[in-house]
Amino acid sequence: MCGIIGYVGSKAAVPILLGGLKRLEYRGYDSAGLALPQTDTMLAIKAVGKVSKLIEATRQHPNTALAESSTSGIAHTRWATHGAPTESNAHPHFDKSQRLALVHNGIIENYRSLRQKLIALGHEFKSDTDTEVLARLIGEYYQGDLRLAVASALRQVEGAYGIAVMSANQPGEIIVARKGSPLVLGIGEHGCLVASDTAALVAHTQQVIYLDDGDLAKITATSIDITDLNQTPIDRSIKQLEPDAGAIEKGGYEHFMLKEIFDQPEAITNTLRGRLDLAQGKSILAGMGTSTRDLAEIRRIVMVGCGTSLHAAMVGEFAFEDLADLHAEVQQAAEFRYRNPLIDAQDLVIAISQSGETADTLAAVREAKEKGALVLGLVNVVGSTIARETGRGVYLHAGPEISVASTKGFTTQVTALLLMALKLARGRRMSQERGEALAKSLAQLPDLIRSVLAQNDAIAQVAQHLVGQEHIFYLGRGPFHPVALEGALKLKEISYLHAEGYHAAELKHGPIALLTPGTPVVVLAPESPVRDKVWSNAEECRARGAKIIAVVTEGTEAPGATAVLTIPACEPLIATIPATIALQLLAYHVARLQQCPIDQPRNLAKSVTVE
Ligand code: AGP
Repeated sequence: MCGIIGYVGSKAAVPILLGGLKRLEYRGYDSAGLALPQTDTMLAIKAVGKVSKLIEATRQHPNTALAESSTSGIAHTRWATHGAPTESNAHPHFDKSQRLALVHNGIIENYRSLRQKLIALGHEFKSDTDTEVLARLIGEYYQGDLRLAVASALRQVEGAYGIAVMSANQPGEIIVARKGSPLVLGIGEHGCLVASDTAALVAHTQQVIYLDDGDLAKITATSIDITDLNQTPIDRSIKQLEPDAGAIEKGGYEHFMLKEIFDQPEAITNTLRGRLDLAQGKSILAGMGTSTRDLAEIRRIVMVGCGTSLHAAMVGEFAFEDLADLHAEVQQAAEFRYRNPLIDAQDLVIAISQSGETADTLAAVREAKEKGALVLGLVNVVGSTIARETGRGVYLHAGPEISVASTKGFTTQVTALLLMALKLARGRRMSQERGEALAKSLAQLPDLIRSVLAQNDAIAQVAQHLVGQEHIFYLGRGPFHPVALEGALKLKEISYLHAEGYHAAELKHGPIALLTPGTPVVVLAPESPVRDKVWSNAEECRARGAKIIAVVTEGTEAPGATAVLTIPACEPLIATIPATIALQLLAYHVARLQQCPIDQPRNLAKSVTVE
C-alpha cells in the first residue's frame, strides 16, 4: 500500500519527508519519490526500490543546496497498481506545466477516459499511471487557486484516493483530499504535516486530525482548513495520539515479526484489559454500543474479513455457535460485497480487520449498513476507516503491527471474538458458572502464551524439517482447522514455500495424492473431542511416508511423530491461540533459516486498500 508524507513549516523539509517515508516502509512498496517547490518549478527526486535509494539520490542531487533550503514538500512510497515499479511511474506526478506535483494512494477507476480527454487537449503522458492523469487534470483547472483546482478535478474522479498536491506558485500550502484511502494531519511545533498514517507523524506531534471521505483540506505552516469538495467548511476534532503509536521500533529483535510474536502476552493483556468480569463470569464490551435488547434479538452473526482476519473469523464461528448457541457464518469480504447478501436488521455483521483499511472489508461494511444490519468493527488501528464507518465495535489494542505477516492481529482478534461470544452467551443461556470458567481461562491466556514462547529455541530446531520442502500440509479439525489455514498462510507469505492448510478429514479426499516420503505434515492435535480422529488422519499420512510435526497438549502422546510442539492444557477454543503462536514461530524460523526478508515479503503489502 502506498505511503504519503507532506510537510509545510519552518524547518528543512527533506529530513522530515525522508524520515516519514522510512516510518511508512512497513506498508510495502517498490519505489519512492519527493517533490519540493522551488521559485519557478518543482524539484523532483525519485528512485526505484527502497527509501535508502531515494535518500542516496537526494544526497547526490546537483540541486542539493536547493533541496536543503526547502521548508515544504511532499513525498511518497509507491506500491504499484497501474504500471510497473519504474522511476517514471514513481510519484510525485506533475501537470503539463511541471509546476504542480501530486502524490496519491488509491485507484482512479475512470482514468482511461480522463486520459483520452487530456490527450485530446495536447497532453503527452510520461508514465503509465492513473495518478499522472489526476495531476494533469488538476493542472487543467488551475488558475491560481490550488484548492479550487483540486476540487474541480476530483468531482470528475471515480475511485479511491488519498492525495497531497503542491504548486510552485504556492510553496507555503499543501492541498490534501481523501476518499477511500486514509489521510491524517499533524499539528506540529514547527509546521503542519499530512501522512497516510500516524507512524510518520509521531516523531513530530501527538496532535492529529483524521480526515474522512469527501474531505478536502489546505494546510499551511500554521493552519489547517477543512472543507468538502464544494468548499463547505467541515469541523474535524483534534485527537491525541496513543502513546504506543510511536512504539514502532524493533526493540532489539531481529525482525518486527519476531517482536510482535513476543508482544502477544502484552497485546492480549491489553485486549482483555477492563473487559473481563471474573466474579460474574461476563465480558464488558461497552464499545459494542448495543443494548441487551438488540443483542437478544440477534438472529445470526455474519463475520467478514480477508486473509488472516478471515481465519480469525472462522475461529469466531465456532465460538459464537458453541458458546452462545448463535448461528454464525463467515464470508470472504470480496465475495460478500458482490453477492447481494441476504442480511437484514436481525443480523449482526462483524467486520474484522487489523488495519481497518482493507478495501474489500470496508466495502462489505458499507454493503451491510445499506442492508440495515447491525454492524460492528473488530479493528486494531484506532481512527481507521472501518473503525469510523462501523461507528462501534471492539478495538484490539494490540499496538502497531508493522510486519506484513499478521501475528498479534490474529490472536487479539480471536481473543476479542471470544469476549464477544462470552458477552452474547451470558445474555442468553450460558450459566454464571460456565461463564466464570471461560473468563478465568481467558485471563490465563498471557501465561499460556508465554509457555509457548519459552519453546522458541526448540521450535527453531523443528523448523529444519520444513526448510526447502516442495509441499507442506497443515491439518486441523474444528476450531483448529482455521489455525491450520493460518499456520500455512504464515509459512507461505514469509518463506515462499508452498504450504496448504486442510481440514484433517479432507486430505484423504484427494490432496493426499501429493504426499511423498518425507513430506512434512503439521498436525494440530491438541486435546479436543475429535483428537483421536485427527490422529487417525495423521497416521494415514505417516503410512505414506510423511513426516508428522505434531502440535499437542502437553502430557499427551504423539506416537510416530518426527517432532512435537506442545501447548498448555486449556479448552479447545482457548487453545487455538497458543497453537497458532507455535505455528507463527515455526514459520518465522523456517523463513529465517532460508534468509528471507520476513517483515516485508515480496509482492505483499501490509494493508490492501485496493480491490
Ligand atoms: C496476514 O498475514 C496477511 N498479511 C493478510 O492476509 C491480511 O491479514 C489481510 O490483508 C487482511 O488485512 P486486515 O486485517 O488489515 O484487514
